[in-house]
Amino acid sequence: MPRILIIGACGQIGTELTTELRTKYGTNHVIASDINTRNLELVNSGPFEIIDAKNFNAIRDCCINYNIDTVYLMAALLSATGEKYPMEAWDLNMNSLFHVLNLAKDGVIKHVFWPSSIAVFGPTTPKVNTPQHTICEPTTVYGITKQVGERWCEYYHRKLGVDVRSIRYPGIISHKAMPGGGTTDYAVEIYHEALKNGHYTCFLDEHTELPMIFMEDAIKATIDLMEADGNNLTIRSSYNLASISFTPAELANSIKKHIPNFSISYEPDFRQAIADSWPSSIDDSVAQKDWNWQANYDLESMTTEMLKQLKKKYS
Ligand code: SER
Repeated sequence: MPRILIIGACGQIGTELTTELRTKYGTNHVIASDINTRNLELVNSGPFEIIDAKNFNAIRDCCINYNIDTVYLMAALLSATGEKYPMEAWDLNMNSLFHVLNLAKDGVIKHVFWPSSIAVFGPTTPKVNTPQHTICEPTTVYGITKQVGERWCEYYHRKLGVDVRSIRYPGIISHKAMPGGGTTDYAVEIYHEALKNGHYTCFLDEHTELPMIFMEDAIKATIDLMEADGNNLTIRSSYNLASISFTPAELANSIKKHIPNFSISYEPDFRQAIADSWPSSIDDSVAQKDWNWQANYDLESMTTEMLKQLKKKYS
């Protein structure tokens, strides 16, 4: 049975990852941590520690105190926030990764999960069915931190024997904790606004096609990768992962099937340039081959589930 620490557990992914890992391994085997207690439901759901991901000693002490062997490092500044606070994004995204990789190198912990992103790609990357191995010239600070982080993960694995595993997440759509500071956040906000106001003003234009994934699939991918036999893993930088690709107009149409009066308008802002630099679809055949990855949700089933769950929240 692994003993797990999740750093950044109050965030969009951390919240649901914590719940799923606790269901699987038992509440007391999964320590949640975050820089503050912003998500009280999560904080009260089991062991919780306040940890600043930039603080090496705090992470190390927690790992030693709880006899942790596996760390999921989910704390990060995302693409849109990273453009506003470039040095903070670099500082948090890189130093937290070094802290965790160094704890693994020194034998304090054994296994590391670290999320990368479609943001490692850039305008010179092939846009359609982006291959696993391709040009990565990201134009955002966030993308640069993820690209460099991938290089370090592979280095720590190859040179220092660290068991680090990673996924290039597409935009993640979920109904529990809100995403924050990303370019793909529109695809979550739209469902909330559809139910609350019947209208959404989108910060990307209607034809911007991006790779996305429903949270349940993202969590399944993460846990499947961490449970896979390490000998089968050919990628120690980060795996491409694909599920659904759609535009804001296509997403709006899927919502209209449930809420006929829903309307959408478009006011692209600075995030349009970020979205335009990213792929529209991803080739994840290496993940399929190495650890049998397969998504369950398509656009229609995701919309049905999102609206069903959010209706409970708003009724
Ligand atoms: N969802 C992220 C963002 O939009 C991409 O990894 O920044």
